[in-house]
Amino acid sequence: MLRRSLLAGAVALGGGATAAASAPADGRLAAPKGFLWGTAISAHQSEGNNTASDSWLNEHVSGSLFREPSGDACDSYSRYAEDLAIAHRLGLNCHRFGIEWARIEPEQGAFSQAALDHYERVLEMCHASGLAPVLTFNHFTVPRWFAARGGFEAADGPDLFARFVARATQRLGPLVSAATIFNEGNAPSLIPVLVPASVKARPLIDRMLANSARACGSERFSSWVFAKAEAVEPGMLRAHAQAYAAIKAGPGRFPVGLSLSMQDIQAVDGGEAQAEEVRRRLYAQWLDPRTPSDFVGVQTYTRIRVGPDGVRPPLPGAELTAAGYEYYPAALGAMIRYASKMTGKPVYVTESGIATDDDSRRVSFIDEGLSQVRACLGEGIDVRGYMHWSLLDNFEWTAGYKQHFGLVAVDRQTFKRTPKASAHHLGQRARSNLI
Ligand code: BGC
Repeated sequence: MLRRSLLAGAVALGGGATAAASAPADGRLAAPKGFLWGTAISAHQSEGNNTASDSWLNEHVSGSLFREPSGDACDSYSRYAEDLAIAHRLGLNCHRFGIEWARIEPEQGAFSQAALDHYERVLEMCHASGLAPVLTFNHFTVPRWFAARGGFEAADGPDLFARFVARATQRLGPLVSAATIFNEGNAPSLIPVLVPASVKARPLIDRMLANSARACGSERFSSWVFAKAEAVEPGMLRAHAQAYAAIKAGPGRFPVGLSLSMQDIQAVDGGEAQAEEVRRRLYAQWLDPRTPSDFVGVQTYTRIRVGPDGVRPPLPGAELTAAGYEYYPAALGAMIRYASKMTGKPVYVTESGIATDDDSRRVSFIDEGLSQVRACLGEGIDVRGYMHWSLLDNFEWTAGYKQHFGLVAVDRQTFKRTPKASAHHLGQRARSNLI
């Protein structure tokens, strides 16, 4: 019953870019009705102790490429109520987060009711806090058993994933406001382009995965973010389509989208053909009309310049973020336009953020990003939300806890949360509902 009453009071999702109200003096526009203002976070990066996952093993084997293990992360598995209370107090109206397959199905075919109960409580609390929950079914990590049997490279990998998604939807679907299936299913294609060092690191990646395989007594270990794109993407595209069908067959009526890592690929010095080829590799299969989705979740952090000789490093003197790539918030507008043009579907910014210890740059990044959203709305593009990566300073994969993407600092000993000025800034923008 609690569920029904919560749903009755649930935050409604917006119906698209209908006429923005009259512009205030500073040029900002009222956001379309139902526009989502929020943050994004993932399960593995925030919950802590995700011990049945592939990443946990990769973080601990010898030859691990992780700077440090995820450990307790932000302890959000226990402290989610505090996280949601912060988001609510800031004035946000949505919360994008992930459920963890390795907790829900820690051994093949053994589903945990307790884990599903947990995520149901998180969803209920989102509604009670006025936060529309945007659910990610898979954010990079898979159960260890799944990786050890070949992950999405195994012929039945997509079926096993779709079975998990169906189970989770059966229980959680009625409480979901919107969902993405894979977080950045194109990450295996993107990583070698965005992080050229990862190409040289291939033997080291293979060694880490071989050690994880050995630890499982298996001959293989397929962690999809570390897999070779050509080997894993076909299975992931199948898994996506099967999962989409499973969600639509389950309870709950909510939009189900793709989330893609969408960096602005810019041709320089006559590199048009090469840039187009990179775009094709990164986006074409996922944005193809045969890949089912109700919206595109654009996740933009930077631009990538491509010349006739291939990917170019940032120009000398360009401002770099702590993640090593260029500070370039204008990329967001370009990618919203691209996603909309390629699909004609509504767009949500499901992630955009910056690694920095200078919070004033985060404030600028937010404002510049929102002005990109405003321009796109002005052009009539159906943009329905902006979710900043991330609510918390969390586990930044191989970079560990060194890079800070959060609006809220987290003390690594006490887990005390301290909102930064940027958190209050985004909150104010959300409260004003002016873009
Ligand atoms: C991923 C996050 C990651 C963020 C910052 C995004 O592409 O979805 O998991 O933390 O980038 O690197």
